[in-house]
Amino acid sequence: VTTASDGTTPRDGWSSRSAFVLAAVGAAVGLGNLVRFPAEAANNGGGAFVLFYVACIVLIGLPVLLSETLIGRHGQASAVESMKRLAAESNASKWWGGIAGLGVAAAFMILAFYCVIGGWVLYYIGLFAADIVQSGISGGALTGMSAEDIKAIFPDLLNNGFTMSVLDVAFVVITVMFVARGVSGGIEKASVWLMPAFFMLLLGITIYGAFTGAFSEAVGYLFTFDASKLTGPVMLAAVGQAFFSLSLGVAGMMTYGSYVGRDVNLAKTSATIAFADTSVALIAGLCIFPIVLAAGLSSDGGLGLMFDTLPHAFQSMPFGTLIGLAFFVMVGFAALTSSISLMEVPTAWAIDKFGLRRAPTAISIAVAAAVLGILSAYSFNALSGFHPLGFIPLFEGEGIFSALDSVTAKLFMPIGALLVSIFVGWIAERRLIDNENGLSGGLHRFWLFLVRWLCPLALTGILIVGIFPSLL
Ligand code: PHE
Repeated sequence: VTTASDGTTPRDGWSSRSAFVLAAVGAAVGLGNLVRFPAEAANNGGGAFVLFYVACIVLIGLPVLLSETLIGRHGQASAVESMKRLAAESNASKWWGGIAGLGVAAAFMILAFYCVIGGWVLYYIGLFAADIVQSGISGGALTGMSAEDIKAIFPDLLNNGFTMSVLDVAFVVITVMFVARGVSGGIEKASVWLMPAFFMLLLGITIYGAFTGAFSEAVGYLFTFDASKLTGPVMLAAVGQAFFSLSLGVAGMMTYGSYVGRDVNLAKTSATIAFADTSVALIAGLCIFPIVLAAGLSSDGGLGLMFDTLPHAFQSMPFGTLIGLAFFVMVGFAALTSSISLMEVPTAWAIDKFGLRRAPTAISIAVAAAVLGILSAYSFNALSGFHPLGFIPLFEGEGIFSALDSVTAKLFMPIGALLVSIFVGWIAERRLIDNENGLSGGLHRFWLFLVRWLCPLALTGILIVGIFPSLL
C-alpha cells in the first residue's frame, strides 16, 4: 500500500503484481490487436510487416513502456503530477508535466471514438445472439440472409447515427461502472475476470478455426518474410501499430504504473506485458485469417475486415452462429478493459488536479466522452461534411471519427513517446531512474542506449514521414 499525495491517506492501488499484469495486459490488448493488427497486416503485405512490427515492439515499444511505468511508479500520482515530481527532483522545468498533459488529452480523444467501435461490437453481439434464438446453433450464421443482405449490415449501421449513439452511450456506461469503483475495487476486478475469459475464447476459436479453416495458408501469409515488401510506409505503419497496441504515448501506462507497489520489478513486468500483447496480436491473426481464407474471401483491410468480411465467413462455417457470437463477445471483453484504461487516465488526472471524489469525476469524464462519441457517430452520416481539422493537409477530408483517430495516432502518440524517451534518457536524474527500473549490468546499459538514441531517432523519423508522407 502506498500513500496519497498528501502523504496521509492510503492511496488506492493494485492488490498484487499479477493484478497489475492483468490490468496492464487488459489495457494493451484491445481493438488494436483484434481489428487493427490483422487489418494492417493485410494492408501491408503480411510477413514483412509482421516481422518489422515485432522488432519495433522489442526495440522501441518495450523501452518506452518501461520508461512510462517507472515514471508513474516513482511519482505515485496521476501522469501529470508524476512527471512534474520527477522533473522537480531532477531540477528540470515543471513544464515537463505538460507532456503527460498531452497524453491525458489524447487518451480522452481515443476514448471517445473507441467507445463508438465498442458500440458496434455490442450491435454484432446482439445480431448473433438473435440469430441463435431464431435458428439455433447448428447451422452457419445469419441463416436466410443473402450475401447482399450481409454486405448491407455494416453500411446500414454506419448510416444510422441514432443507433450508433445509443450503443456508444451503452458502452461508455459499462466502462464508467468499473472506473467509478476505483483501482482495486473496479478496474482490477474487470481485468481479473475478463482477461482469462478472453484468453480462453481466443484460444478456443483459434483452435476451432485451425481445424475447420485454412490454417497453413494463414501461417504462410502472416510469416513468409519477403524483404522487398519492407518499404517506408510499411515500416511506418508497423511502428504506429506497435505504439497503439502497447497503449504508449498517452500516459496510460504511467497512470497504471502509479498504482504499482515498490516490490514489483518493472523491467520483468513490462516484458511480460509486451510479450502477452504481441502474442495476442499474432494469435488474433491466426484466428481471423484461416476463417476468412477458408470462406474464399479476401479483405481490403480496415474496419471492414471485422465488421463485414468476418460475418460473411461465419455464415459458411459449421456452428458459425455460435463462433460468431463467441468471437464478438471476446472482442467486447478486450475492448472494455482497454476503454477502462483510457477513461482512467483523464479521471486520475482530474481527481489529482481538482481534488474531487472519484465517482463524480469519472461520470463527468464519461458524459464528455459520450458527447464527443455521439458527434463521431454522426460523422459517418449527418455530419460527414464536417472536417474539423480540414485546414491541416495531413487531416484533409477526415470527419470527426477519423480525425480523432489520425490526430492521436500520427501526432499525439509519437510525440508523447518521443518526449518520454528524451525525458527519461537525458533529463531525469540517473540515480532516481536506476533504482526504479529493475535492471542491472549489460541489460541496463542496453535499455539506456535504446531510450537515449534509438527511440528518439526512430520516433523523430516516424513523425517526419508521418507529417510529410510525400518524403517516402
Ligand atoms: N492498446 C489498446 C488496443 O490495442 C488501445 C489503447 C491505446 C488503450 C492507448 C489505451 C491507451 O486496443
